[in-house]
Amino acid sequence: MARQEAPGRPPGPRGHWLTGNTRAYEADRIGFLRRCHQEYGDVFSYDEQTVFVIDPDLTHEVLTRTGQSFVTELAPFDMRRDLDEAAAQAASWMSARRAVWPGLNRSAAAASDRRTVEILDAVVTDGAGREADVLTTMRAFTAQAIAEYCFGADADGVPALLHEVIHATKPFTESSYEFPAWLPVPRHRHFFRAYRRLTDALTGIVRRRRAANGRDPGDDLLGALLDADPGMPDGTVASTLHSILMGGHGVPAAGLTSVVWELARRPRLVGELRAEANGPAGGGPEPATAPLSAARLPLAEAVVRETLRLYPPAWLMTRTARTAAGLGDWSLGPGDDVLLNAYLIHRDPRWWRRPDDFDPARWLSGRPAPGAAYLPFGAGPRVCLGSALALRQLTLATARLAQRFAIESPNASSVTLEFMGRLAPAGLRARFTPIRQ
Ligand code: HEM
Repeated sequence: MARQEAPGRPPGPRGHWLTGNTRAYEADRIGFLRRCHQEYGDVFSYDEQTVFVIDPDLTHEVLTRTGQSFVTELAPFDMRRDLDEAAAQAASWMSARRAVWPGLNRSAAAASDRRTVEILDAVVTDGAGREADVLTTMRAFTAQAIAEYCFGADADGVPALLHEVIHATKPFTESSYEFPAWLPVPRHRHFFRAYRRLTDALTGIVRRRRAANGRDPGDDLLGALLDADPGMPDGTVASTLHSILMGGHGVPAAGLTSVVWELARRPRLVGELRAEANGPAGGGPEPATAPLSAARLPLAEAVVRETLRLYPPAWLMTRTARTAAGLGDWSLGPGDDVLLNAYLIHRDPRWWRRPDDFDPARWLSGRPAPGAAYLPFGAGPRVCLGSALALRQLTLATARLAQRFAIESPNASSVTLEFMGRLAPAGLRARFTPIRQ
């Protein structure tokens, strides 16, 4: 039965008198949201304070108004929901974001192509011939790649600290229940300890770089940031790179795991990708050794775009209304949460032809859907800072995996998607065996 809403509130399921919709949502997150979408339409209430949006244009509107009517910076476990504090943090992040952007744009990202392939080769070859958890393997790759992108030769030890933070974050991403930060439960202590260790390590790297290099900041992202804003305090430099390490690690690893899931079930596609990588468009005349160029791998890029459509790792984005705000025909109060669902928009037959089919070819002949209906990297002022780098890294990794390895998975046909913090096939295992060229 639909909840009786205050005027202007979207309708939605009433749920259990005590627990609301939490149990139904936890039992089958995407099934519950699909049912609500069918019953109530593109905008529906989940509880008194939470609204889901599955309309592309409204989603873009909310993302574009981030920083004005909406905030995104609520600190983890902040039960006080201090919206002014969140807005102040957003302002300081936005100025750091502007400073770091030139180091992440398309041409800066292109300079890392060769090292990306070397790191992938090393990580996958290290476990070659042994069956392993794919997400763990891909995290080892993305952690090393983003750590070196940020800190070059000073990246030692950073991937291990990143793994620790991801591990400490896991209990929170697996549950919709939150406890206040001051509660001394072990998982909070574990999380804050891991977080502090990473922050301290990064601050140390920044200080040493400044002390050692004087006027030459280095040719990695840290160097670009010190160059762009020499007066930025060490703590701000470290926290900016902290955000980039966190964004550039778990999410792309989830995306690559989904790529492997598709490749493991599509030997013909792997053959086509291998031909592209081995041909003149990919590596040139010496396929095994010549550098791959992400710019010349259209099929690999189409596979990545299609994978991010069907399995967007950031399948849910959250915004909080800072003030009373309109949302299409509806109205929100300050503190209301808006959840934007890229997964359901990407599979909506109103925007996509055969939306549940994996069909990379749809990306090879123009734009396959209205622009607003594709948002794996978000949109607006807080659009993914690493989208250019991510697209290159995933394209190269897809081409290289097909070019150099046979991929076998014992459970690709039985695993299912896990709608937790980051969307990925749960427990996918695979063996990568080097192939003779
Ligand atoms: C397949 C790979 C990736 C996907 C699908 C992805 C997706 C996203 C999405 C959807 C957002 C916006 C979230 C929101 O609006 O709430 C975001 C933000 C962000 N991403 Fe990515 N991302 C990827 C890779 C990367 C990489 C490689 C980096 C690092 C270079 C990165 C750094 C960031 C940062 C720092 C933000 C926060 C931006 C801000 O709030 O201003 N991401 N990402």
